[in-house]
Amino acid sequence: MKIAVSADHGAFDLKESVKKHLEEKGIEYHDFGCFSKESVDYPRYAYYAASAVARKEYDFGIILCTTGLGVSMAANKVKGIRAAVCTNEMLARMTRSHNNANVICMGQNVVSKELANKLIDIFLSTEFEGGRHQRRIDLLTDIENGKELD
Ligand code: RB5
Repeated sequence: MKIAVSADHGAFDLKESVKKHLEEKGIEYHDFGCFSKESVDYPRYAYYAASAVARKEYDFGIILCTTGLGVSMAANKVKGIRAAVCTNEMLARMTRSHNNANVICMGQNVVSKELANKLIDIFLSTEFEGGRHQRRIDLLTDIENGKELD
């Protein structure tokens, strides 16, 4: 499994902690930045990791900012990305099992480092259930492709 990781300056510390967690678990990742706490624009860093996931170069993305909100908005504008802001275990589980999310977003000012690690573990180990949920994912793709839903 290969993971694309990125953050803006507001989650630089959380990104470093997440990377350590992935290393401890032996999970391969690439860090798409940012690389210091100097102020940057979060859409860029969300785009770098999310577009690599959309190109299928990585299985999942972990994208972080102060709140998780801005990066999730940016990531969800990349075709093929289903990014979810997760703040508890249920959200991390259900966004995989029901939404087939391929990016988890979290906020450094919202989750502790320990909770972030826990949510990552759940997110990466939960399978998509398919079935009726696939029909709904297909509708998301239709919306993304500009189709009008009846
Ligand atoms: C940066 O100040 C902050 O706006 C950003 O990290 C993020 O939370 C945006 O949604």
